[in-house]
Amino acid sequence: MRTQVGIVGAGPAGLMLSHLLSREGIDSVIIEDQSRAYVESRIRAGVIESWAADLLVETGVGARMQREGLVHEGIAIALNGERRRIDFKRLTGRGIMVYGQHEVVKDMIKARLAAGGQIEFEITEASVHDFDGRAPKIRYKQGGEAREIACDFIAGCDGFHGICRPSIPNGVLTEFERILPLGWLGILSQSPPPAPELIYSYTDRGFALYSMRSPTVSRLYLQCAPDEDLANWPDDKIWKELKARLGPGGDKLLQEGKVLEKGVTAMRSFVVEPMQTGRLFLAGDAAHIVPPTGAKGMNLAIADVLFFSQALAEFYRSGKTALLEDYTQKCLERVWKAQRFSWWMTSMLHLNPDDGPSDRRRQWAELDYVTSSEAASKSLAENYVGLPIE
Ligand code: FAD
Ligand code: DHB
Repeated sequence: MRTQVGIVGAGPAGLMLSHLLSREGIDSVIIEDQSRAYVESRIRAGVIESWAADLLVETGVGARMQREGLVHEGIAIALNGERRRIDFKRLTGRGIMVYGQHEVVKDMIKARLAAGGQIEFEITEASVHDFDGRAPKIRYKQGGEAREIACDFIAGCDGFHGICRPSIPNGVLTEFERILPLGWLGILSQSPPPAPELIYSYTDRGFALYSMRSPTVSRLYLQCAPDEDLANWPDDKIWKELKARLGPGGDKLLQEGKVLEKGVTAMRSFVVEPMQTGRLFLAGDAAHIVPPTGAKGMNLAIADVLFFSQALAEFYRSGKTALLEDYTQKCLERVWKAQRFSWWMTSMLHLNPDDGPSDRRRQWAELDYVTSSEAASKSLAENYVGLPIE
């Protein structure tokens, strides 16, 4: 089969790219190694920056998000239970959209298929070829049968563990990686969140985050070891710790519910430079990972493919390659700012196992400063709601 852009991966990056390209009249095919049901129920991100929510609406895939998503105009930062609000709306004029990544994925798959888009689920043995020339190819198997996609460009939207980045020859990429001694144990629960807005809670017991997917479904995280064994965390122990990390009165504030999902995520910072070689372009988690505390991962994935779709649109319209050549530079300016913000939020809010008492006092001073100074809280707010994008 032939298409203009062959896309590996049906996560937010691959789906949004295919969607944006179709609006420019550019054909694409997506291949995905998981099933549709699996990608539509994989619980990941929950916070969408305001420009990204606007983009989903403006391009016709945001109607359900507008109906069911929750617009939040601030967050709380709690210091041993004392909650202090950062008012995004007052500080930046904008808010954030709280809406599950898997809901975005569902909406985009539905829209792509309704528009005649092609997504091949449950493929195996994907491999990418000849991207150093003008006729790249993607090979894979569907139901045991070998297939090939001939295309003009390959988009590697296959996440951190995908095959596209490792297919780039040695010596092309420089990897910047920092593995953090931190993890999050996350649950999704059939119960209301403790407050209408997200609470980022700094406590002597470690960090906790109280988020949500709806007024009746909570998404709750506890700082843990990166290799934490879930077997050591029966539900009642998780609830007890979540209550304790809410501070005094936490046992009354936090309602327990049926645990719908449970998992541990280890934290890392990772970036490759460049994000492209020949006609293979990486986007989203395939090229970079941020620690989750800044809620930036999905938003960066959407920003990358917005830039890539603009570059491809210019190329197919005029034959000009300037935007394609600038792709890495354009993405990385945003990526490194998100790395900076995510690192800062993470180091300010977590108990680092290597830290001593002076580090704790400095963290406390920083949290006190950021929640009381207009300038400092504005800096947090403008990064959290999302830096401007063209
Ligand atoms: P992915 O979502 O990983 O998609 C890649 C796709 O490629 C997958 O569907 C995968 O199955 C497929 N694939 C992989 N290998 C192959 C192959 N060989 N062949 C075919 N297909 C393949 N981000 C935020 O913005 N806000 C948040 O609040 C937030 N919270 C998070 C909380 C947690 C617990 C976690 C784990 C992540 C969070 N993130 C958050 C990060 C966010 O989920 C990711 O950055 C986002 O999923 C990146 O999208 P992507 O499309 O690049 O990659
Ligand atoms: C969620 C995840 C995050 O990483 C974050 O910073 C805020 C919210 C969430 O899953 O709701």
